[in-house]
Amino acid sequence: MSTLYRLPPSQLHQFVQAIWLHAGSSAEESRLVADHLVAANLAGHDSHGVGMIPSYMSSLKQGFLQLNQHTTIEKDAGAVLTLHGHNGFGQVAAHQAMQLGIERAAKLGIAAVGLHHSHHIGRIGHWAEQCAAAGFVSFHFVNVMGDPMVAPFNGSDRRFGTNPFCAIFPRQNAKPLLLDFATSGIAYGKTRVAWNKGQQVAPGYLIDHQGQPTTEPGVMHQAPYGSLMPFGLHKGYALATMCEILGGALSGGRTTHDATLVSSHDAIFNCMTTIIVNPEAFDAPAMQEEAESFLEWVKRSPQSGDAPIQVPGEWEEQNRTERDREGIPLDSNSWEQICAAALQAGMPDEELAAFRALAQ
Ligand SMILES: NC(=O)c1ccc[n+]([C@@H]2O[C@H](COP(=O)([O-])OP(=O)(O)OC[C@H]3O[C@@H](n4cnc5c(N)ncnc54)[C@H](O)[C@@H]3O)[C@@H](O)[C@H]2O)c1
Repeated sequence: MSTLYRLPPSQLHQFVQAIWLHAGSSAEESRLVADHLVAANLAGHDSHGVGMIPSYMSSLKQGFLQLNQHTTIEKDAGAVLTLHGHNGFGQVAAHQAMQLGIERAAKLGIAAVGLHHSHHIGRIGHWAEQCAAAGFVSFHFVNVMGDPMVAPFNGSDRRFGTNPFCAIFPRQNAKPLLLDFATSGIAYGKTRVAWNKGQQVAPGYLIDHQGQPTTEPGVMHQAPYGSLMPFGLHKGYALATMCEILGGALSGGRTTHDATLVSSHDAIFNCMTTIIVNPEAFDAPAMQEEAESFLEWVKRSPQSGDAPIQVPGEWEEQNRTERDREGIPLDSNSWEQICAAALQAGMPDEELAAFRALAQ
């Protein structure tokens, strides 16, 4: 059984930053990685938070993740930019990609950015929030190059990644509406979290290596490997396919097939096609009122049980409020793995001992 700690977000941020500084990242890169991972935990997406550090460290040691890379513009077609991520930290590459896209959308009303060959870009909502903070609507199609985990509808083995889709709509007096999810029934990282906690996952999300339904998250972490299932039967599978093609092929990157399979689960490479739109470019002066009227109308539906009706993005906002106050929950197995990664990064024992005191 593992213990659950509550970690103070700002000190956890310092720890993450220190790990990547020791590993060789620049101050800016360490900060962007820490910003992203801690923000994912704060938003409630522990699958994409600090628990990713051991995997990133393995990817670095195996020679896949490259430190201190910057995106380069491969093609500039005005409203459309194609960027190469050079296998660098996705937390840096996607940040730069959104910055460039936002600048173009501010000038032109709309911009599309294809980012390919980036190491894991983590929680996609983070990139949408960057666009919304600048006042823009955005849409994101993402694939995971060459690391299949999900079986097609009516199939029985892994053929593509957990390919997330994300969209955001900024609101005038409220946090943005945010749709941000994997097209698998659950994100792969959620099987890692369950496995670390010694828990089963709910039925309907996993099949074993023989294509039989299972609730054992270990089938995703040790051979013989099983697969995740797409969400929503054929609909989730169809959306995953569009994320693979629009995210992987249209961006100038690669899709998943025999020639692109990667040998390591720690080497996660994402491609993302992002469309950024200035809502003010539309002739829609009542846009905000219309959006609010709809949301208010929806929320007036009589509740079917104990859980309140929420709008997309509200779940994350609620987690932020609670975790800012109570701290970020982390199980002891994940914590030990992060501390081991800190040692691998070259953090001296005395420095690690001081950070270890955060877990209680
Ligand atoms: N980089 C990658 O390769 C990759 C791959 C897969 C997933 N991810 C990330 O993993 C994270 C987790 O994905 P997931 O599939 O587990 O997400 P999830 O199943 O937790 O769904 C999250 C979405 O559902 C909304 N939501 C939650 N409860 C709601 C409610 N009651 N009413 C209305 N809306 C509600 C949230 O606001 C959010 O938009 C995401 O941030 C995603 O971007 C990344």
